Amino acid sequence: MIFSRIAGTGSYVPGAPVTNDDLVARGIDTSDEWIRERTGIRARHFAEEGVTTSKLGAEAARRALDAAGMKPADIDLVIVATTTPDMVFPSTACLVQHELGMPSGAAAFDMQAVCSGFVYALTIADKFIRSGSNKRVLVIGAETVSRILDWSDRTTCVLFGDGAGAVVLEADEVPGIMATTLHADGSHSDILSVPGQIANGVVTGSPFIRMDGQAVFKFAVRVLADAAHEVLTRAALPVDQLDWMIPHQANIRIMLATAKRLGVSEDHVIVTVDRHGNTSSASVPLALDAAVREGRVKRGQTVLLEGVGGGFTWGAALIRY
Ligand code: UT7
Repeated sequence: MIFSRIAGTGSYVPGAPVTNDDLVARGIDTSDEWIRERTGIRARHFAEEGVTTSKLGAEAARRALDAAGMKPADIDLVIVATTTPDMVFPSTACLVQHELGMPSGAAAFDMQAVCSGFVYALTIADKFIRSGSNKRVLVIGAETVSRILDWSDRTTCVLFGDGAGAVVLEADEVPGIMATTLHADGSHSDILSVPGQIANGVVTGSPFIRMDGQAVFKFAVRVLADAAHEVLTRAALPVDQLDWMIPHQANIRIMLATAKRLGVSEDHVIVTVDRHGNTSSASVPLALDAAVREGRVKRGQTVLLEGVGGGFTWGAALIRY
């Protein structure tokens, strides 16, 4: 049988960290104490003008390829999960393919599931590999969320950041990806959305993130716990044999509440929201790569990746790294 496993990880954040106090200095009516206590965020990164999602994604991909000991030409499919593409089209995946200097031929497409995007993209890549149609897939989560933030809305603008994470997924005889699950419920578009659109040469509606934070919070804790149970059951892995949990990095309180529901202790939860903020589809691969490079996630360990976000969408992937 063919399975897929992660051959290498990489990530990239642009520029210097922007602290909570830096946001106060920029005139946002907030405080370091409020942001830290409510979310766990201490800093985030913002891409400078002209630095696009594809550029962040390509840099993360280069690092993942290096870690896997591969070249761009070894890749036969590129999937980019993003909510903040460079353009309406071509897809960010095609732009990343070009930026990496990949030869013509490999397939490339974008995946839009907001903050669940990476888990969705990883699941799709796993299916392409298991079906035998592809052998080496670059799976990237990349975002310039700062471009869709309303700086006059303190309830959202302090929460997000820019960045990218990537993995190279490769065909193997032993399962790296043990179980996956994806879900969506389109009836909740009112609690988290960017409700604008481009039509007839103008933006109509709002081009900025709108969120009912408390409604999102409650929804996220419930569905993350349910999705975790699903993949653990499917892989017949008792929760006490789970080495690491890497949930979507939106809010430390959501992550710890989910872990508590599952019976996972805090020291098994990878947390990078403190340094990255919420980077939407980039959050899970950014956290995974940080944990790998810091020597926390090691080969052979079990890791639960989880996403939840606009749509609503949510999902989980249980992997043996
Ligand atoms: O990736 C997408 C998924 N998104 C999420 O997972 C976000 C989920 N939600 C959350 O993380 C939390 O709901 C928030 C961090 C967004 C908000 O935390 P909260 O504990 O739910 O706060 P709240 O909305 O109940 O607001 C409490 C107070 C309000 O003041 P009053 O009405 O009590 O006087 C807000 O006006 O905090 C005020 N507030 C702020 N104060 C300082 C809201 N934003 C800020 C701010 N700085 N940035």
